[in-house]
Order: sequence, then structure tokens, then C-alpha cells
Amino acid sequence: MAMNGPTRWLMGAVLGGATTLATMIICDRLAAASDEPAAADPLSGEGAGLIQAKRIYEDRCADCHGLQGRGDGPSATDLDPRPADLSLPALVAKTDEVIYRQITEGKRPMPSYRAKLSEDQRWLLVRYVRTLTAKTRSK
Ligand code: HEC
Repeated sequence: MAMNGPTRWLMGAVLGGATTLATMIICDRLAAASDEPAAADPLSGEGAGLIQAKRIYEDRCADCHGLQGRGDGPSATDLDPRPADLSLPALVAKTDEVIYRQITEGKRPMPSYRAKLSEDQRWLLVRYVRTLTAKTRSK
């Protein structure tokens, strides 16, 4: 079939469109791949567990303890006693078990996370809380 001008143009447009679409899909896949925490998160060196813990912390704990753990989250001012500053070196002296127990049992006004988080998640939070302390100390 001999293609006249408009047909050729149409073919070109369709092929071009398909190529653009394919490129867009591939780029999208690549972007999604680079979104993986292992590549993007500065804590990646310490394992995926810690990335999960960071999310849980930001979700459940930062409202009181603040993103940096300094006890200055948005809800902090309403509380008595005020949320603990998790970045203070005092926390270093506490054992993992003590921190785990605090998260598990809570302590008014901090809620208990026994039923809200799995054992694994609570242990991961212990590790995450440790990173908050370490960060401030190295500054
Ligand atoms: C409703 C606010 C609130 C939320 C939410 C909250 N906490 Fe607390 N947290 C507190 C308060 C208040 C204290 C201090 C209690 C005290 O001084 O007796 C505290 C104390 C602690 C301590 C003890 C610190 C120390 O020096 O012994 C740890 C560890 C802790 N929180 C971790 C967490 C983690 C992890 C989460 C999220 C799973 C969380 N908290 C969620 C309010 C909160």
C-alpha cells in the first residue's frame, strides 16, 4: 500500500505516541525503583528494619516526642509531664529492655503500645530511638 502524506503523518504520530508512552512507563518504573528506601534513605546502611521503625516513629511517636526526638512534637505542650527528650545522653544509660518496657507499657500520658504494635516493631523502635540519641550527641 502506498502511503500518502496524511497516512504517513498519522503512522508517525501513532508510532511516536507509542514510543513516548513506552518511555514514560520505563521512566516511571525507574523512578519507582529509586523510591525504594534502601536507595533513598540515609539509614539504609542499618537495614530495612530501621526504615520501617522510622516510619512507625514518625506515625506514632513524633506527635509527642518530635521528629528529632527532642520532646517537642506538636502535642507536647499540652502534656504533663512533657514527653521525654529522647536525644538526651541520659537515655544512653538505659538498657534496651528498659526502653522496650516503656514503649510496651507506656507511662501516662504516653500510651501503651503492647496492643498497637507487634513485639518486633517495638524492638525496632528501641533501635530507632537509639539513633535519635546518637545523632544529637555527635553534633
Ligand atoms: C501522647 C504523647 C506520647 C506519645 C504518642 C509517645 N510518647 Fe513516649 N513519652 C511521653 C511522655 C510524656 C514521656 C515521659 C514520661 C515521664 O516522664 O514519666 C515519654 C517517655 C518515653 C520514653 C522514656 C524516655 C526515658 O528517658 O526513659 C521513651 C523511650 C519513649 N517515650 C518512646 C516513645 C516511642 C518509641 C513512642 C512511639 C511508639 C512514644 N514514646 C509515643 C509521651 C508520649
